[in-house]
Amino acid sequence: MSSVYEPREDSDLLARYVRLLARGRVLDMGTGSGVQAFIAAENSKVKEITAVDINPLAIVHVARRIETLKEMDPRIRSMVVLQSDMFDVLDGQRFDTIICNPPYLPDEEKDTDPALYGGPQGYEFAVKFLAEAKEYLAPGGQILFLFSSLTNRDRIDMELKRLGYLHEELAQLAEFFERLYVYRIWLPERDAQ
Ligand SMILES: C[S@@+](CC[C@H](N)C(=O)[O-])C[C@H]1O[C@@H](n2cnc3c(N)ncnc32)[C@H](O)[C@@H]1O
Repeated sequence: MSSVYEPREDSDLLARYVRLLARGRVLDMGTGSGVQAFIAAENSKVKEITAVDINPLAIVHVARRIETLKEMDPRIRSMVVLQSDMFDVLDGQRFDTIICNPPYLPDEEKDTDPALYGGPQGYEFAVKFLAEAKEYLAPGGQILFLFSSLTNRDRIDMELKRLGYLHEELAQLAEFFERLYVYRIWLPERDAQ
């Protein structure tokens, strides 16, 4: 199993919008170091946070951070961190905000680090996540989602349309070999606005 994903430019870009927009019951999908979950905890509109990752090292890492920081905020004290392959352990739960910075690079033959590689084309994890997330969004819920030009933006946009989501682009950031995008995504019949 790979080591815990250190926050990078992608994490920081998404975290800016998590700080501003996270609210209610929050799920941090693929939490890694827990960066998005701990930033969400700073927002007074957030009520409770669940953080999941497939990597057991990430779970240990986040659990330790909760232990260290739990006196700082009741939202951190009550944070739940679970090992899960995507939504596997979350049956029946609904969230007002689902945060996801997915593994988004196309697989390489010699490297299969699940923190980085999202499938043969790079977008497979994202496509599965977006399809399953519909069942876990509360009415009026939103997804804060980061991806890269290497994930294939057209394919992401196509999947969002096919699945009946609406979305707005919150940010773009040009990096050395890719462009990062942050989307806010929601379902029209559940749109709270
Ligand atoms: C790009 S990292 C993002 C980490 C952190 N959220 C951030 O913003 O820095 C992707 C994370 O997704 C996790 N992951 C990969 N496949 C997963 C799966 N099937 N279910 C849950 N988490 C998964 C990885 O272990 C990794 O921690």
